[in-house]
Amino acid sequence: MGDDAALFADELAFANDLADEAADIALTYFRTGFEVHTKPDLTPVTEADLRIESMIRDRIAERFPGDAVLGEEGGRVGDGDRLWIVDPIDGTKNFAGRIPIWATLIALAVDDRTVLGVVGAPALGERYQAVRGAGATMNGRPIGVSSVSAVRESLVLTAGVGAWVRGPHRDAFLALAAEADRVRGFGDFWGHVLVARGAAEVMMETSLRTWDWSALQVVVEEAGGRITQVDGAPLADGGSTLTTNAALHDEIVRRLASTPA
Ligand code: IPD
Ligand code: CA
Ligand code: CA
Repeated sequence: MGDDAALFADELAFANDLADEAADIALTYFRTGFEVHTKPDLTPVTEADLRIESMIRDRIAERFPGDAVLGEEGGRVGDGDRLWIVDPIDGTKNFAGRIPIWATLIALAVDDRTVLGVVGAPALGERYQAVRGAGATMNGRPIGVSSVSAVRESLVLTAGVGAWVRGPHRDAFLALAAEADRVRGFGDFWGHVLVARGAAEVMMETSLRTWDWSALQVVVEEAGGRITQVDGAPLADGGSTLTTNAALHDEIVRRLASTPA
């Protein structure tokens, strides 16, 4: 597949405008206060999540009326070949707890292939973006994964160790954690972009939805990394997610496969 950057220049500028507007909304709530409600799946949602997704849906309907939208809070609307995929706030529990690790995730998929990703993390002062074939940037500067190829030299991230030690990969996970240079729980989008920018080597999550991983997929792959399920299969809605610096990918897949499911 060739360079999509020129093809999607308008969409990238538009997605950055959406991220700017989302940042204004989110930071206002983050600094002043907001209500937190519990969704039927028992996860939290704030006024900021709802207002940002609503704003993004309105803007897409105005600018690209034929495009479909999939958002965490409002589901899928439309059935076109082009699908915008939105997580208005990834890291809602952090947001609600006034921890600055949260982001608005915006992706565009065409014919089920993600082509563009924008990750706006305004409380961290970080904006990541990528279009297929054009590389990935953080705050306008190119980023790339590390060249670390030994687990003993790696920084391994998870969204939390609980799901790993309770799940079928417990033994392989604990062996990996024991050997790695460091293990940290920088969860949500941040673990994946830390791998993309070369600050960590591995980020692993047991279950993510399409809106959690779509924007990250473009950023990670354009930064030279790999992102699959933990068994090496392509990403899927509700499946696991393994992001690496590429050099360690096959080894991590092999190690996790050593534990019977
Ligand atoms: C959460 C984050 C987190 C993952 C959870 C998600 P949210 O998203 O993506 O990394 O472990 O499963 O629900 O709810 O904060 O948008
Ligand atoms: Ca999310
Ligand atoms: Ca969310």
